[in-house]
Amino acid sequence: MQQFKAMQVTESADGKFQAAIVERGVNELLEGDTLIKVRYSSLNYKDALSFSGNKGVTRQYPHTPGIDAAGTVISSDSSNFKAGDEVIVIGYDLGMNTSGGFGQAIRVPAEWVVKRPEGLSLKESMVLGTAGFTAALCIEKLIINGAKPDDGKVLVTGASGGVGMVAVALLSKLGYSVSASTGKEQAHSILKQLGADEIVDRSSLSEENSRPMLKEDWAAAVDVVGGHTLSNVIKSLRYGGSVAACGLVQSPAFEATVLPFILRGVNLLGVDSVQLPITVKFALWHKLAVEWKLDNLDEICTEIGFDDLESSLNQVLNGGANGRFVLDLNS
Ligand SMILES: NC(=O)c1ccc[n+]([C@@H]2O[C@H](COP(=O)([O-])OP(=O)(O)OC[C@H]3O[C@@H](n4cnc5c(N)ncnc54)[C@H](OP(=O)(O)O)[C@@H]3O)[C@@H](O)[C@H]2O)c1
Repeated sequence: MQQFKAMQVTESADGKFQAAIVERGVNELLEGDTLIKVRYSSLNYKDALSFSGNKGVTRQYPHTPGIDAAGTVISSDSSNFKAGDEVIVIGYDLGMNTSGGFGQAIRVPAEWVVKRPEGLSLKESMVLGTAGFTAALCIEKLIINGAKPDDGKVLVTGASGGVGMVAVALLSKLGYSVSASTGKEQAHSILKQLGADEIVDRSSLSEENSRPMLKEDWAAAVDVVGGHTLSNVIKSLRYGGSVAACGLVQSPAFEATVLPFILRGVNLLGVDSVQLPITVKFALWHKLAVEWKLDNLDEICTEIGFDDLESSLNQVLNGGANGRFVLDLNS
């Protein structure tokens, strides 16, 4: 493979960003020991930021975004991989300042790569992608911190998005009673289909509330929203409850007092899937392929090709995501 098709985002002299589908040379890819032919990628909120020119995510353009990739090894300097191995790469620097999965080829350090676990196809791994993987990581962290199905309702915010939908489906599979918070009426039926027991209007959580504590409602929560939403969630956790915080779509800043922590013993758990050690990633991918395998992944996935990539990224950027977009690089 010498040439490959990719989205490339360029910055013009007046600071505007434009995306185009172009032919690129494999020799343009940064140094790295494992060359991979990408079959599927997926769309995440961070990709939408990179695509729109957010310098907090991507410092230098021209750039090919795509923080997720699944495909086949073409060549590797590592003895862990050989040509033809099916592999998954998510996180680290992929798609940020390393050319990403919105191109048919990537070259990355072998330390970023995991072999596709048996039980999960390349496409299924990308229906999950960083978003689904992060949902699983949040739930694993809640469980490690004592969340049990009998404790009561678990809240998922941003439920119609990528992290949210997978979190709803996984919690329901694991026997938890799920409250799904969403701002989209059209998402109610799919969220119920995925196992949500109740729908919460996101406006009931997203407004500033000056009271230091609220009625105890949730035994645990997965929060992708941050901002006032996260403040309100912390204030309404039940005694000893935990919230796994992984996102910032409302705001990266939030206000809190120590009262819920010192009077109700609640826990604020930070979740990062990007720099997680590869051995931990490997173990969680295996869990997602076996004990936590979701059999309804098709229901949350919209498959797109290069032609729809730009409009779909704009949809994600504007908070209009409905589940997961999977990009077929052969389209
Ligand atoms: N820590 C990590 O390792 C990690 C990994 C992956 C993602 N993330 C972060 O997690 C967040 C969600 O990612 P995602 O891929 O699920 O994004 P997504 O698919 O775009 O979904 C985000 C959802 O949040 C809700 N939302 C959007 N704007 C909002 C606002 N202003 N106020 C309240 N809710 C809003 C919407 O759901 P409703 O309409 O249903 O409310 C939207 O569908 C992002 O901040 C992302 O950066 C972090």
